[in-house]
Amino acid sequence: MIPTVEWKDGIVRMLDQTKLPLETVYNECRDYETVAKGIKELWVRGAPAIGVSAAMGLALGARQITASSFDEFWPKFEEICAHMAATRPTAVNLFWAIDRIKKFVQKNKDKDLSAIKDLLVRESQEMIDDDIATNRKIGANGAVFVSDNDNIITHCNAGSIATAGYGTAEGVMRAAVEDGKKIHVYVDETRPVLQGARLTTWELMQENIPCTLITDNMAGYFLYRDMIDLAIVGADRIARNGDVANKIGTYSLAVLCKEHGIPFYVAAPLSTIDFSIESGADIPIEERDPREVTHVFGKVQIAPDGVKVANPAFDVTPARYITAIITEKGAFQPKDIHKLADGKLDPERFRL
Ligand code: MRU
Repeated sequence: MIPTVEWKDGIVRMLDQTKLPLETVYNECRDYETVAKGIKELWVRGAPAIGVSAAMGLALGARQITASSFDEFWPKFEEICAHMAATRPTAVNLFWAIDRIKKFVQKNKDKDLSAIKDLLVRESQEMIDDDIATNRKIGANGAVFVSDNDNIITHCNAGSIATAGYGTAEGVMRAAVEDGKKIHVYVDETRPVLQGARLTTWELMQENIPCTLITDNMAGYFLYRDMIDLAIVGADRIARNGDVANKIGTYSLAVLCKEHGIPFYVAAPLSTIDFSIESGADIPIEERDPREVTHVFGKVQIAPDGVKVANPAFDVTPARYITAIITEKGAFQPKDIHKLADGKLDPERFRL
């Protein structure tokens, strides 16, 4: 497991995932602006990974501030938080992480500024450890839904490098394998940014988990031929009613799975649930550069100059297509997920 993002001697090192699988390169960020650029340009992507990267960026940003009092420090820090929040709109883990860091700073406001700055580095490193521990729990809670010799289909990359480590959807696969089950994974290539082709296959192959790369439009072919037992994907934001925003193409896969009676699981930490929004209709969907669609990975042009392009990076899968949402607290029916926020959920009663 290689680090997705790390703090080293006052520098934030981000794994440049745009270069994978051909090169494993870390970009060194000496200021928060570079971390924000890295999030925007997908050096590090995947909801939990975006969250922990932002936290490290804020720790870096705090050290860039010159102030002689907390009152002078705080508005400058809030500006840095706003800059970080403007990077990507859909994954709620970004806003969750910024909020956690802001609250942490407020809690420590009576300490001197240099102590706050040091504590922030420690807090962002703790967020990395927390995320890995959370993913291991998600993995254990999800592995029970995987049987020996299952064929799993996944979309996008919800692996170790989409998180601080271990992964969510891929964490479930990893945990099933650790339990001694044999699995095989069909990996959707995930047009247009190809997270499946470039990242998920690369991670699975490193783990010696057998996988087959398919293009997104092949999923129906394999489902029709009874070659898939279950689907597991990650999430960028989950609404109170259990609707899930995830990489564009997730919804089509979920509809296909329902048609074929194949269970469709979403694996995500609680930090991906946005309890402030009622349904998926309220989730902001990022629209990305048309060049991602008109060119193969920014290089070879495949469409006429000037063609009109739409490039929503995520779609919403309505709760009714989702068999269960697997979290660190257990697996729940999407309709029950809001009870986690309302304090009504006794995990033992509602767990599947
Ligand atoms: O645009 P990306 O690569 O950041 O999108 C990533 C996804 O959609 C993942 O499935 C999701 O963030 C879950 S990552 C554990």
